[in-house]
Amino acid sequence: MSSNVKISYNNSEVELPIVKSVYGADAVDISTLKAQTGLITLDVGFKNTGSTKSRITYLDGAEGKLLYRGYPIEQLSEKSTFTEVMYLLLHGELPTLNQLEKFERDIMEHCYVSQEMEQILQNFPRSAHPMGVLSSLTSALTAFNPRIVDVKSPEDMYEATLMMLGKFMVLCTWTYRKKFGLPINYSNPKLDYVSNFHQMMFRKPFEEYKVDPVVIDSLNKLFILHADHEQNCSTSAVRITGSSHAGLFASISAGVSALWGPLHGGANQAVIEMLEMIKHDGGDLQKWVDKAKDKSDDFRLMGFGHRVYKNFDPRAKIIKKACDGILEKLGVEDEVLEIAKGLEKVALEDPYFVERKLYPNVDFYSGIIYRALGIPTEMFTVMFALGRLPGWISQWKEMRDNNEPIGRPMQVYIGAERRDYVPMNER
Ligand code: SDX
Repeated sequence: MSSNVKISYNNSEVELPIVKSVYGADAVDISTLKAQTGLITLDVGFKNTGSTKSRITYLDGAEGKLLYRGYPIEQLSEKSTFTEVMYLLLHGELPTLNQLEKFERDIMEHCYVSQEMEQILQNFPRSAHPMGVLSSLTSALTAFNPRIVDVKSPEDMYEATLMMLGKFMVLCTWTYRKKFGLPINYSNPKLDYVSNFHQMMFRKPFEEYKVDPVVIDSLNKLFILHADHEQNCSTSAVRITGSSHAGLFASISAGVSALWGPLHGGANQAVIEMLEMIKHDGGDLQKWVDKAKDKSDDFRLMGFGHRVYKNFDPRAKIIKKACDGILEKLGVEDEVLEIAKGLEKVALEDPYFVERKLYPNVDFYSGIIYRALGIPTEMFTVMFALGRLPGWISQWKEMRDNNEPIGRPMQVYIGAERRDYVPMNER
């Protein structure tokens, strides 16, 4: 296999080195391209461009496989817990029991937020979308924890990671309580991370909280499935924000905002809204599949398609398989599940979707489980954000550990040529 590529241009030839991967595409290192040829590359949306080298997560788009630090997502979602996967993503290895118990205890020390932050929360209108509240409050954490993380200090980085994992979870529950005019709940350190999250979300005043294993297992599974996903849009936002040496909180806040978009994490909310719309429209699946194919129609099949997966998103497979079991255990029936399955069947038999390799992605079925767990639609992307948090932190840390330069892409300028200012009376 060649170790470089040759580019001939304007009667000259340059050689560019190949960067070998463990899995997936090797890369052409173009860092000397401009110096050697005066050329830059153009790849709008970065469909062919690697932004970094990473050891954290690998997606095999053709085969529909996902590995966190080499471990298959199928095994982790079945056998692990969200906090264990947090540890794996952050440290690169599965923890011993002592390491995990210490990690969980350390996080619990940070599951509280300054009183002044509650005043900021109270000033949001209840009509505000939970993701807008979450992004603002996450950024506001910097005001109350101003110390810039010394990434070269393992202790400092560990402390900042614990604060993020503890406080962000609290803020996620606040967005729900605020939305529904409920008093906020406080952390119960006797509970594990996911149970503590659930009690802070749903515990009613003066009511004892009882852990429901079915609910907690389902949440662990969903958080694990969302925990990281290579250089997706929001992770890239976290990395490029952090590349200016902005703090961890500010960088995660940028990731929350990027995740909110309906083409990204906001799709889980858009999927349920789409399924409800199809149900109320009479359930004519072919009509909506045809609309999704019609280029003159803005409608897209939300929860379908993926930049990398050109096969079934392995997370969608796991969630779809879990749906029936979880709804049955919870005694919940949801007719939009049948609509989703029917839509998937019609689409996957349609040449438009088959030719473009458009399959259900992680967002297509996740909302059905969230809904069965009593989580309102507007909170779905907040759930995605909490799941993705350990991935964002791990990727931010890897970028800073590698001393990566500030992210500053070039452009191809196609605007006006130089011209002189025209006085108002001559325009
Ligand atoms: C996530 O990157 C990640 O890893 C993201 C994520 C993560 O864990 O971080 O996996 C989470 O964001 C999942 C994706 C959630 N978004 C949606 O479900 C929204 C609906 N999907 C699409 O908007 C789209 O598929 C994207 C945004 C997901 C991917 O877009 P791409 O890679 O830019 O692909 P494209 O828009 O160029 O589409 C290629 C073709 C086009 O048709 P042609 O121009 O070739 O004729 O496929 C068509 C598109 O019109 N197409 C769709 C479609 N998705 C793509 N047509 C109808 N419905 C769709 N959903």
